[in-house]
Amino acid sequence: MSMHSKATRITAPAITARKGGEKLVCLTAYTAPVAEILDDKADLLLVGDSLGMVVHGLPSTVGVTLEMMIMHGKAVARGAERAMIVVDLPFGTYERSPQQAHESASRIMAETGCQAVKVEACDGIPETIEFLVGRGIPVLGHVGLRPQAVNVDGGFRAKGRTETERERVLAEARAVEKAGAFATVVEGVDAAIASEVTAALKIPTIGIGASADCDGQILVTDDMLGMFDWSPKFVRRYANLREAIGQAADGYARDIRAGTFPGEAELYRLKRTK
Ligand code: KIV
Repeated sequence: MSMHSKATRITAPAITARKGGEKLVCLTAYTAPVAEILDDKADLLLVGDSLGMVVHGLPSTVGVTLEMMIMHGKAVARGAERAMIVVDLPFGTYERSPQQAHESASRIMAETGCQAVKVEACDGIPETIEFLVGRGIPVLGHVGLRPQAVNVDGGFRAKGRTETERERVLAEARAVEKAGAFATVVEGVDAAIASEVTAALKIPTIGIGASADCDGQILVTDDMLGMFDWSPKFVRRYANLREAIGQAADGYARDIRAGTFPGEAELYRLKRTK
């Protein structure tokens, strides 16, 4: 048996080396078949805790558990062999201490086979990132709009209206870089601030609702596929799967009611044996 898989997996240092170079293409993935489709199109697949809302119908990411992340992380790791796979540490599983974060992250890494974890910026996060990286766990940062802080912020609001917010985003990004993150997501910030952060950091910035100046972009795959009636301003839709699924289901229902499904081509006609 070979020690290495067939495809060459994109690594954390390879992502870091893309700073200022070819833009990083990143998407979320939660299932094996979608991961398989996206594997040769994206550099990085994020098993985001957005799966709580996108797949499980939760109102926010706050209710997402470690078990949910591990289950979806395993599925994505089975589907993709080239793209780097990053799994989110969910709310409540890393903020208390570096040790708590290490317990959660090492479980996720060992059980899913992913290559890194992502953490949202919060009090004490630089120490935690340093602790994890020092123990073999690559970390992707997440600054700006932090979905796990929805209850403190009073909603999902873009950052950068005040000088204090600008300074906070910049300080968070610098701290995440200093602590050893291999890259950072910059979400929901004023475009000029996202550009400033990108210019200030040596690690790549991956924008979502940020700026085209970022070193790469990420979207929730289901948003860009048009699975929802509503999506945030920063989403560009590349398909309308909601309509396509509705039309397919209408056609299926029509054929069943008309008695035309299943047709001859969809039936077994087996030769009898004694
Ligand atoms: O959970 C998620 O999908 C994310 C991305 C939107 C960056 O954090």
